[in-house]
Amino acid sequence: MAATARTITRSAQPFNLDAFVTRCTSDVNAALDHFLPSEKVKPATIHKAMRYSLFAGGKRMRPALVLAAAHACGGATGPALPLACAVECIHTYSLIHDDLPAMDNDDFRRGKPTNHKVFGEGMAVLAGDALLTQAFEVAAQCQGWPRYSHQRIILELAQASGSLQLVAGQVADLEGEGKKLTVPELRYIHERKTSALLCCSVRLGGMSANCTPRQLEALTDFGYHVGLAFQVIDDILDITQTSEQLGKTAGKDIAAQKATYPAIVGLEKSRKIATQLTTKAFAALKPFKGRATALEALANYLLKRDR
Ligand code: IPE
Ligand code: IPE
Ligand code: MG
Ligand code: MG
Ligand code: MG
Repeated sequence: MAATARTITRSAQPFNLDAFVTRCTSDVNAALDHFLPSEKVKPATIHKAMRYSLFAGGKRMRPALVLAAAHACGGATGPALPLACAVECIHTYSLIHDDLPAMDNDDFRRGKPTNHKVFGEGMAVLAGDALLTQAFEVAAQCQGWPRYSHQRIILELAQASGSLQLVAGQVADLEGEGKKLTVPELRYIHERKTSALLCCSVRLGGMSANCTPRQLEALTDFGYHVGLAFQVIDDILDITQTSEQLGKTAGKDIAAQKATYPAIVGLEKSRKIATQLTTKAFAALKPFKGRATALEALANYLLKRDR
């Protein structure tokens, strides 16, 4: 019995997430390098600043979600790459602006001094502006699909990053500083500042495989819950990890009196909530009948991550 179990485990070939993420990161980095103007192109300062943050060593989880969703829907990496690059450009812009003194006032990001510490505040604002705009330029270079036109792709990105979603979440996050928010108010922030772009990432991955409406619905459900879990974990790590481990200053949320899950419900309950959200994300993958192994492995990693 035991021998059989061992044999089954060995022959089941567990999904190699490390290899998948390493491959994604290398493909995405090469594509980003191709899409972005080189550091030598005038005005050189802005291209240096854009590339500084983009290639500082982020985890590349949003691009990985794009590619994993494409694979779950029977697609390939190549057609999904412009969309994977676009979401990483939007994410990196949001981090540069999030770190500005006028927002979270952070000195470290991705293990390096923040963009404004190196290039100055004015240039950091512009590097963020340029990366956001670059995202649409890159996305517009996708091939387009029978069910998803270029217009649909651009609309998807614009809605996730605009004043009703990512920006809305950042607004509420700033306005929530020093206030005791309710859990629904905090969820409103997390849905927008974080979950919207993660959800958009998996949806775009599906679209790049010309997914069916049913698949898109499942990806939306998955991305929404993974996105919420992602921010709960980010809030937990801010308290439990060191700055060296995170590559960004730990303990900032308490110092800035940010509204977070640990602040409102405590660490233990926060962990439970993150687990529950991830369980809901797993359930959303049911229609893929075992073909969404990369998405499943990513959701599991994002729950257990330590950085
Ligand atoms: C940090 O995102 C910002 C949040 C939305 C919590 P990541 O943890 O994905 O940051 P990088 O890309 O790895 O630097
Ligand atoms: C950042 O949330 C969300 C966006 C950048 C949109 P946080 O402010 O919690 O992210 P970190 O902790 O600085 O990475
Ligand atoms: Mg913030
Ligand atoms: Mg921040
Ligand atoms: Mg944080």
